[in-house]
Amino acid sequence: MWGMIATWRMALEGITHASETLKNGGRSAKAVVSAVAEVEDFPFYKSVGYGGLPSENGEVELDAAFMDGDSLAFGAVGNLVDIANPIQVAHALSRERFNSFLVGTGAREWALSQGFAEKAMLTERAIQHYRKRCHETIDRGLSPYDGHDTVGIIGLDNHGSMSVGTSTSGLFMKRRGRLGDSPVVGSGFYCDSEIGAATATGVGEDLMKGCTSYEIVRRMEGGMAPQDAADSVVCELEDKLMARFGRVGDLSVVCMNRQGEFGAATNIQTFSFVVATRDLPATVYLAERRADRTYYTPADDQWMADYAARIRAPIGDPQYD
Ligand code: GLY
Repeated sequence: MWGMIATWRMALEGITHASETLKNGGRSAKAVVSAVAEVEDFPFYKSVGYGGLPSENGEVELDAAFMDGDSLAFGAVGNLVDIANPIQVAHALSRERFNSFLVGTGAREWALSQGFAEKAMLTERAIQHYRKRCHETIDRGLSPYDGHDTVGIIGLDNHGSMSVGTSTSGLFMKRRGRLGDSPVVGSGFYCDSEIGAATATGVGEDLMKGCTSYEIVRRMEGGMAPQDAADSVVCELEDKLMARFGRVGDLSVVCMNRQGEFGAATNIQTFSFVVATRDLPATVYLAERRADRTYYTPADDQWMADYAARIRAPIGDPQYD
């Protein structure tokens, strides 16, 4: 059995291409890193890699992580500036015995010392978004922190190995040096080839409070189906934060077990995710929660067409504001 699952529609092309690797007997690490890198390279995604929105200080500070479910080795980078593919740096770091989680200047210096390509990651389009959203949010006293999307991709290969990778520009307007869940093992991602893997997207400050990805994998280890593990973790975290903190941000997750069974859960109105397995061509699903259960259906042609138009629309196009 092989399979891949990812947060958000933006992973579709990466998964479509990378699943060829798995179909042909290739390894999950290669498939996951190449699928995440494809998302990082696409300039129209404003929350990951090239084209990602900047921090408060106008710099694009990127976070990424990779975990190998066979060895449990992981590598991660935080606040990495102007390096083309943070996921590749995180993957390389996962081979280091020590110093495998690097942030800021240290992460950048290490990436350059290893020959990773420099690239100016702030695009003209991201600057336009930044200005527009400053106007819409900060100037009007609203929170700039809503609606952020991290890509998280899980792979299972025919050899039984699993991997997971994440990549994000973090919250729009985050403070310099801020880290969310995406590079933090156990929160933004976790993977154990003997059990399964999970990855999260949403407000990192809240996802970290539940060690969300580890908790989903732990419940799958205890015998829960992936869908039950995902739903129960998201619902319980939401309830706990509402009761004890008085508010909760966006929480969405995907997971897959070692048999290739998958689950997805969310507390937002529409969460898109992508799945491909030996038995299912790459498919975009739209998930929504009713009561304590997440339901999902394949995205229809109209939704796919609207999405394609929306992400490429000129900034300020009233049809997509
Ligand atoms: N989940 C991404 C972040 O909070 O940075």
